[in-house]
Amino acid sequence: MTWHKTISAKALRAAGASSVRVGDDVVYIAAVGEKLYAINGVCSHAKCILGVLEVDKLRAKCQCHHAEFNLTDGKMVVPPYVSPDILMDKLSLKVYPVREENGFIEVDA
Ligand code: FES
Repeated sequence: MTWHKTISAKALRAAGASSVRVGDDVVYIAAVGEKLYAINGVCSHAKCILGVLEVDKLRAKCQCHHAEFNLTDGKMVVPPYVSPDILMDKLSLKVYPVREENGFIEVDA
């Protein structure tokens, strides 16, 4: 794995979250307080790009069908409203190591 420089820490903290391209992946990065989170940014339901940051729940919400993913472990914790009986255990998103380095957010991918 390799650390990849993404957006500035200042820009991320102003936005709260952002989906960025890291190699062949799209990664959803979020800053909540002093902590950083990074999960795959492509929704495992129907491939929409994440999403709305739910700060109080530490979740990313997909805007297409409102599935929600835990930022700490990538697990789907709320199913898409169009598929309420979907097997959420099989739809977790990859979690990436993330850090701030010299004013930029870096993701290990
Ligand atoms: S594509 Fe994300 S919930 Fe459907």
